[in-house]
Amino acid sequence: MSGIQSSLGPVTSVIGAQWGDEGKGKIVDILASEYDVIARACGGANAGHTIVVEGEKHVFHLMPSGCLHEGKQIVLGSGLVIHLPTLMKEIETLEGHGISILDRLHISNAAHIVFDYHKEVDGALEESRPQPIGTTKRGIGPAYMDKAARTGVRMERLGKDLSKEMQSRVSSIKKIYGVDVDVETELKNIAEAQEKIGHCIIDTVAYLSEARTTGKSILIEGAQAVLLDIDHGTYPFVTSSSTTLAGALQGLGLPPMCVTSCIGVAKAYCTRVGEGVFDTEAEGGAQERLRERGGEYGSTTGRPRRTGWLNIDQLNIANATNGFTHWNVTKLDVLDEEEVIPVMINGKLEELAGWKSNTAGITSFDKLPESAQAYIKRIEAETGVSVGFIGTGPGREEMITRT
Ligand code: IMP
Repeated sequence: MSGIQSSLGPVTSVIGAQWGDEGKGKIVDILASEYDVIARACGGANAGHTIVVEGEKHVFHLMPSGCLHEGKQIVLGSGLVIHLPTLMKEIETLEGHGISILDRLHISNAAHIVFDYHKEVDGALEESRPQPIGTTKRGIGPAYMDKAARTGVRMERLGKDLSKEMQSRVSSIKKIYGVDVDVETELKNIAEAQEKIGHCIIDTVAYLSEARTTGKSILIEGAQAVLLDIDHGTYPFVTSSSTTLAGALQGLGLPPMCVTSCIGVAKAYCTRVGEGVFDTEAEGGAQERLRERGGEYGSTTGRPRRTGWLNIDQLNIANATNGFTHWNVTKLDVLDEEEVIPVMINGKLEELAGWKSNTAGITSFDKLPESAQAYIKRIEAETGVSVGFIGTGPGREEMITRT
């Protein structure tokens, strides 16, 4: 064990503590170099992570952010729902950058396939709701509906002849949702995927178990975030999977007691994309200022994100369901211009002092302005969890590490 891993231990999880888009990709990217296996557990192409490496932006939806690290083993676990053309495109992007992936990608045979028609159904369901959820329209909900109804198609069936089954779905989907299924395209996508990734489909539970018991380290990359959890989030404005640490362990088939650390990732402020409650949503100029300074536009849909202030009560709820060992507070520098910074604590919006100076790129806690240090210490005092990592800019190196 070396570097940060010596304090985090061999099985570390990174979990979003707000409504997603906290910037989990960056801490994963930093940690990935120290872990052998990087595993994604749940969700699908509704996620979108942007990573900046040497000034170049990479956006992925299915692949974990850690995939950029050559030589690391990548696992897509059983809890995932996988849209095959999206996965093919991401593999092509990696290969286009000279990063080989097919020799180190392990996809669960129990993960479910998202078909194009799931996306259409997602759109149709949204239109039929009195109050739409504002989904990413990536077919996530409908794919999990099929999974729960036990009518889903799992990755293990990629090499089988699915033409009859697909044909029989056509009429029922048309009848229920008014959506046409392009069977030819769906079958073509399956055939292309089988050719390219057929050899990557394995029993990932056995793979992870073997890795763990032979001393390999595992980094679990959570997707979405706690407040979007199907059970513990702001239902019904949530996603369709379990986004907590427990959900990730279930999605990967890892035993709960193996986890050695769990990093909760929270922005220094808060954003939400899609509909639903947002108690600390900013108004007027502040909403716009946070959006522009933080570049708050959805990486999957391009939608402008709703922006607002940190809600420490929600961080406490997120901690209650995950048991974080550390926080990673991201994008602290986005608050640099604020005179005062409202923060929700015990149901009240309290105004903390801003620092009105540049923190971008600072890599040592002592160099932060006093009010910025006080801001971080307040998070620690109110949650009882230490802030081990503080993001001060988009680059991999713009991070204060305090483990
Ligand atoms: P779905 O997951 O596409 O069904 O969308 C359900 C809700 O979760 C919507 O409010 C989405 O905007 C939100 N959502 C899903 N994935 C993400 C994500 O990765 N980041 C932020 N919001 C997300």
